[in-house]
Amino acid sequence: MITLDLKKTAPWVSSEELKACEVRVADAQQALEAGTCPGNDFLGWLHLPSSISADFIAEVKATADVLRAECDAVVVAGIGGSYLGAKAVIEALSNSFQWLQNDGSNPTILFAGNNIGEDYLYELTTLLKNKRFGVINISKSGTTTETALAFRLLKKQCEEQRGKEMAKKVIVAITDAKRGAARTCADKEGYKSFVIPDNVGGRFSVLTPVGLLPIAVAGFDIVQLVKGAQDMEQTAALPFAENPAAQYAAARYALYTKGKKIEILANYQPKLHFVAEWWKQLFGESEGKDGKGIYPASVDLTTDLHSMGQWIQEGERSIFETVISVETPEHKLLFPSDEENLDGLNFLAGKRVDEVNKMAELGTQLAHVDGGVPNIRIAIERLDAYHLGQLIYFFERACGIHCQLLGVNAFNQPGVEAYKKNMFALLGKPGYEKETEAIKARLA
Ligand code: PA5
Repeated sequence: MITLDLKKTAPWVSSEELKACEVRVADAQQALEAGTCPGNDFLGWLHLPSSISADFIAEVKATADVLRAECDAVVVAGIGGSYLGAKAVIEALSNSFQWLQNDGSNPTILFAGNNIGEDYLYELTTLLKNKRFGVINISKSGTTTETALAFRLLKKQCEEQRGKEMAKKVIVAITDAKRGAARTCADKEGYKSFVIPDNVGGRFSVLTPVGLLPIAVAGFDIVQLVKGAQDMEQTAALPFAENPAAQYAAARYALYTKGKKIEILANYQPKLHFVAEWWKQLFGESEGKDGKGIYPASVDLTTDLHSMGQWIQEGERSIFETVISVETPEHKLLFPSDEENLDGLNFLAGKRVDEVNKMAELGTQLAHVDGGVPNIRIAIERLDAYHLGQLIYFFERACGIHCQLLGVNAFNQPGVEAYKKNMFALLGKPGYEKETEAIKARLA
């Protein structure tokens, strides 16, 4: 099970202060469970893990098997919550050099629809030329521009390269049950489709087909992923002292009230880079509203100690650090001894590389705490599907609780509309005539 160490927050948050949060956390949990919190029509994630049935997993796996059999590459088209969870899990579980050495046992998973870079889309569509590829088109609203744009290109290319009948087999839609262009298209074309439940928002949707299908297509164990989340869901009912998500939420809140406005999520495994990206979206989009919210940032260590380390050590003291530590790596590599010892590293000979990494982690933690940075440590035993499932539900739960403490609606994202309105006005989208006029006058 995840272990949470809050000892290194002590100089900033006393145990009495943490205890004082306990009652508020209990109220927050109660509001989530009773569905009395703001945005309560989006609480489907709360008991999602325990509601996943064997039949549903079998349906996801059967669809994944079709894509695995018919495709050498599968493009996941989606943005924000419609891709980050899958990307995070797939990258965390994949060999670091998978993209250079695919032996053909799993399709290569590519991502699109998360940017509007012309070069990116050109290079992707060029790469896919003459490849047996499929597409998973993911959009809850079914109308997101970035995703729709990529999907139009990919659908056309897939149909041209593979023929309409095969395209029908290797294009899967994950979208709303009724609304949106993605649903209309899936129904008209006869694609296999999955529904994103109405009461699960994008950033809480990794354990729906949004995350599970791409992860299964990549060849990873979605049963274990769900099992990890289910076990973590069980801990949500435990008393505060045994409840890691409740404690993490309380510690964050206490630090925030002490002026620690930025949380830096640090990892010591490069494979966790996209777990941090997923986490940033989960917390950033959920909390950042009404002039409130901890700014979620991230670093990959020790890499970024040589870029951001200086700032963390001595910059403005408005930060705290949360480290995800993996207790045991999947592989063993011993550091060799060298007769000449020209690099002076023989004192490490015979040690596991991970031992050096762990000492770097400990040394960094002590240095940062000395430098005035409170430290939270989250440890998982291994970087496997089961523990990732735990981590996902742990963060979701903590995020839900913390938003109640802040008094914000965790489940909307009104601020995301501002850029879209301007972009559509600038592009002259039908229906935006007035906005186009106004924005042109503003820019004149
Ligand atoms: O968390 C969210 O709700 C958002 O980040 C969405 O996932 C993102 O905007 C994509 O939306 P959609 O799935 O409707 O295309």
